[in-house]
Amino acid sequence: MSQRVAVQTRKSGHLIVAAIDFGTTYSGYAYSFKDHYQRNPLQIFSHSWTDGHGLFTTKGPTLVLFDKNGDFNAFGYEAEEKYAQLSSSDKHTGWKYFRHFKMTLHNRTNLTLKTKLRDDQGKTMPAIKVFSAAIKYLKTHLLDKLTESYYNRQQSVKGNAAAKDVGINVNDDILWVLTVPAIWNDSAKQFMRVAAVQAGIPESQLLLALEPEAAAIFCRTAVLSTNKSDEAGAFKKDSQFMVIDLGGGTVDITVHKVHNDEKLHEVYPPSGGPWGGTLVDEQIYEFLENLFGRKVLQILQKESKTETLDMHRTLELKKRQFKVMDEEDGKVNLTLPSSLYEIYDEENSEETFLDRLERLKSNKVQKKRGRLIIDQDIFHEMFMKSIDSLTEHLEAICRRHDMAEVKTLILVGGYSECDVLKQSIKDTFTDKHVIIPEEASSAVVKGAVLFGHNPDIIDSRRAPCTYGISSAVPFDPKIHPAMHKHRDMCEDVFKVFIPIGTEIVPGKTQVIHSFNTAQSSSVEIYKSISEHPSFITDPGCEKVGEIDISGTAGESTRVDIIMKFGDTELHVEAKEQETGNKISAKFNFLR
Ligand SMILES: Nc1ncnc2c1ncn2[C@@H]1O[C@H](COP(=O)(O)OP(=O)(O)OP(=O)(O)O)[C@@H](O)[C@H]1O
Ligand SMILES: [Mg+2]
Repeated sequence: MSQRVAVQTRKSGHLIVAAIDFGTTYSGYAYSFKDHYQRNPLQIFSHSWTDGHGLFTTKGPTLVLFDKNGDFNAFGYEAEEKYAQLSSSDKHTGWKYFRHFKMTLHNRTNLTLKTKLRDDQGKTMPAIKVFSAAIKYLKTHLLDKLTESYYNRQQSVKGNAAAKDVGINVNDDILWVLTVPAIWNDSAKQFMRVAAVQAGIPESQLLLALEPEAAAIFCRTAVLSTNKSDEAGAFKKDSQFMVIDLGGGTVDITVHKVHNDEKLHEVYPPSGGPWGGTLVDEQIYEFLENLFGRKVLQILQKESKTETLDMHRTLELKKRQFKVMDEEDGKVNLTLPSSLYEIYDEENSEETFLDRLERLKSNKVQKKRGRLIIDQDIFHEMFMKSIDSLTEHLEAICRRHDMAEVKTLILVGGYSECDVLKQSIKDTFTDKHVIIPEEASSAVVKGAVLFGHNPDIIDSRRAPCTYGISSAVPFDPKIHPAMHKHRDMCEDVFKVFIPIGTEIVPGKTQVIHSFNTAQSSSVEIYKSISEHPSFITDPGCEKVGEIDISGTAGESTRVDIIMKFGDTELHVEAKEQETGNKISAKFNFLR
């Protein structure tokens, strides 16, 4: 695939913004041209993925397949199909198939570039290789589509024969935006950045966008472009709204206020948790494990990938279609692989599966004509772990006095299409206006494109945690515990730079810390969930990484480290105090 594509004109700045939404369960991309954006911001190209059986979706499943040599082979529906085919002819051994692996990065404290992922057959591979292969696939796919769009664009301009010869360098003229959950810690964000760079995205052309923030930008732009006055009110000057990105892995929440210049202020730090759609899947699998036994499911998974895949598809469909029926005795029918019952009977020689159901005398679960028939209240219960965690969290936020002005809840992400979840939120938050945009599943990726064209639209954020360093002060027995005493000094003191919740402004909020390189060539950064932690050893405090300095002029040089807060990632610069010369410095959050 060529790294140069033709365009009509070449202006300074990024001609194109290309965004990749790398999801736990589904991933997609979108892009737009700057001139289109200036005329109509919603003129965004996105790709429709197909499973080859007539289903078209705005995102494809996040599945990656490597061959026996460890080389990337396929992504998405193709990976799924190929792995099932290999398995049906018993040729899959040694291939590596990965699914749902984005959650490995969520809240992991010991993430490194050596962190391993386990595949479907229990074999491992460095996570960075899997992530970068997936991003590379999406990037290449996007560039192919982009080339096509350019070609079509050119064709539509009559008589512009010269256009073909003018080139755009994809390395200079595309700004790449990669979305990440807002609640991710600094090491997970850095891991994604490294994976993207390894996938061939130039570091200087890469911006990380926070998923619910991107969705907020998209929803506002989309709503304001229509004439729906009830929804437009949610985005009027001074109004506050909450965006809840309901994904497969995480639920990710931000709260914004519309500023007078139409920019968005974050009014509360991002929050959320691992309560996405896959938590419902886990509950469904737990139910099946209780019914058939873990071993039976493991044997099916090992011996018949095709049937396992069919079972995944059936359960996904039933999950998506589920609605609480008015009749009290509503049922859910599951057509599960016949092998599941056969394996059960083989493994349990004293009792067949039907005998087991009979013995349990449960009319809540029955088997009729090859189908498992389950009472709807059992199936409903499988959503509740996720829904209860979410609503409890939302209620806690909404109870805060500084959240009283939040009048609108905007639900985005694939899981926002879940009927029982929607109903539960509407029933719990009767005083709020709940909006579910038409393009709930592509709001994140399209919003990421809009963010790339205008990152200044978010004019302030809130510090997600307290950042600081470890320092030593003269020991004072009246205030300092003896355990921190070392000679005349009190050590491990948490010197706070930015307390949690502080308003941080991109390009403006910075902290300067000076130190002597004779003592050290790095500065350790700590974080805390408390506003005023005393010591770095307090509960809730942890080391997040360090700033590495290199290339200092002398062995004993006074250096100013400038830490920049407010962007989607932390940035750092260092200067020699005496000369003002810049020194290379970078945050290192990956151990
Ligand atoms: N109608 C529906 N009912 C229930 N769940 C649904 C429905 N439609 C989609 N989902 C679930 O939504 C999830 C996918 O949402 P989405 O594509 O936003 O997640 P993601 O971007 O892959 O994950 P994350 O943002 O957490 O990384 C899946 O768990 C899917 O089963
Ligand atoms: Mg998502």
